[in-house]
Amino acid sequence: MYTNFHKMMEDAYREHYAVGSFNWYHYETLKGIIEAGEETGRPVIASFGAKYLTNIDLDTAAALTKVLADRSCGAVCLHLDHCKDKDAIIRAIRAGFGSVMYDGSSLPFEQNLENTREICEIAHACDVSVEAELGSLAAGAKSHEGSADDREVYTDPAMAAEFVRETKVDALAVSIGTVHGMYKGTPNIRTDILEKINAAVGSPLVLHGGSGTPEDKLLACISRGIAKINVNTEISEYVMAHTKALLQEQSPHLSVLALKQKEWVKEVVKKYIELFCNRA
Ligand code: G3H
Ligand code: ZN
Repeated sequence: MYTNFHKMMEDAYREHYAVGSFNWYHYETLKGIIEAGEETGRPVIASFGAKYLTNIDLDTAAALTKVLADRSCGAVCLHLDHCKDKDAIIRAIRAGFGSVMYDGSSLPFEQNLENTREICEIAHACDVSVEAELGSLAAGAKSHEGSADDREVYTDPAMAAEFVRETKVDALAVSIGTVHGMYKGTPNIRTDILEKINAAVGSPLVLHGGSGTPEDKLLACISRGIAKINVNTEISEYVMAHTKALLQEQSPHLSVLALKQKEWVKEVVKKYIELFCNRA
């Protein structure tokens, strides 16, 4: 079933679990994510990063997802991840995306708030959900989102409350110590800050940088208002490691490798789906 993520977020926040938001880059990653949701009986967010537009355009991404989601008995939301370009966001809304992330986190607070408010008005009029971000994440190793000059700026609880109140955003991505990519050192996940943000905001929060985050920390975040958790790097790393191992032994037809890659995507996505709904 093809949907936006508003109800997904409300249900997850109320019942203290998180919905996995898994990045996809080609047909096999998309199909693996949707099949993992169907086989676990859990909602999934198929997250398409704006950076992958070089491979798949927005209309094709929406058409592919709709066909696969409509055949699935599970709830699937197609989400545009990390987009700073308001025109691209409007094109994604027109293409039929279920949700969009306007990433104004690098802008001054007032400008991020104003842009997000404008996008929420447009998106909500089209029954499309909106995620925004306040604070910013450092980039870890092998990150496909961040860059070396990404600075870690923790989200301020009072500013987060004002931001959500003024924009009516469906979910707010926060920065509390996770990184995009794999951790270079010991993760320092500030659940104390998250607790203050959740108490101030009182609505669904999003954790970026899911890959490599210790499972006990993920569960601690879920019990403190995180209703959506993004995973990208680990999906690629897991599938590429298995692909390399396979290619050392054999040289299969590409169609055979594609099916195996879809199964490897399902393995890592199912691991996170089960973890995210394991109430803390
Ligand atoms: O937006 C995507 C996620 O934040 C990806 O983070 O690559 O650390 O899992 P990750
Ligand atoms: Zn992210």
